Amino acid sequence: MFNRVIVSAVPIIVVLVLGSVLWQYDGMSNSDNSCVLTAENPEGPYYVAGAPQKEKIGEFLDGQRLIISGNILDDNCDPIPDAIVDIWQTDSNGEYYFKDFSLRGKVHANESGFYTVDTIFPGKYADGGQFRPAHLHLKVSSPEGPPLTTQLYFAGDEHHDWLVKPSLILELNEMDGIKYAEFDFIITP
Ligand SMILES: [Fe+2]
Repeated sequence: MFNRVIVSAVPIIVVLVLGSVLWQYDGMSNSDNSCVLTAENPEGPYYVAGAPQKEKIGEFLDGQRLIISGNILDDNCDPIPDAIVDIWQTDSNGEYYFKDFSLRGKVHANESGFYTVDTIFPGKYADGGQFRPAHLHLKVSSPEGPPLTTQLYFAGDEHHDWLVKPSLILELNEMDGIKYAEFDFIITP
């Protein structure tokens, strides 16, 4: 009787183990394809081409320091060496500048596709009578490739509007008075 129970349980155990292995394999293959292109967002009316390369986007301006870093990858999850992040944003009061490329600049990723944006936290401005959420505008590209144009937003902003996509919302951490966020860009090289 006892042996019969064991024998009848063997196929069930085999099915469970095999199912578990197959489920894990499926998960691994999904993670291999996890580099989905970053969502695009409108350029808006305030872009100025030709911004210079900068170490600090918010230099010489008062504001909450904000550092965003991450990887720039293609849709095979391979890094894009020397990729470019072209950024434009407002100051702490929600003002864009149109002289001297203030709060406009290009950041270059390193040979591993890793980038760091060192800037100040953007303020808000009214657009058509309604405040837009705090945001950064960006064009991200490989050295020769077409740019992906998007915007980045921040978690907990009460003014999130219809343009905000969940995948473009940054979670902030703060240390020593500096706000930090991480974001990986996935672009077509
Ligand atoms: Fe804007």
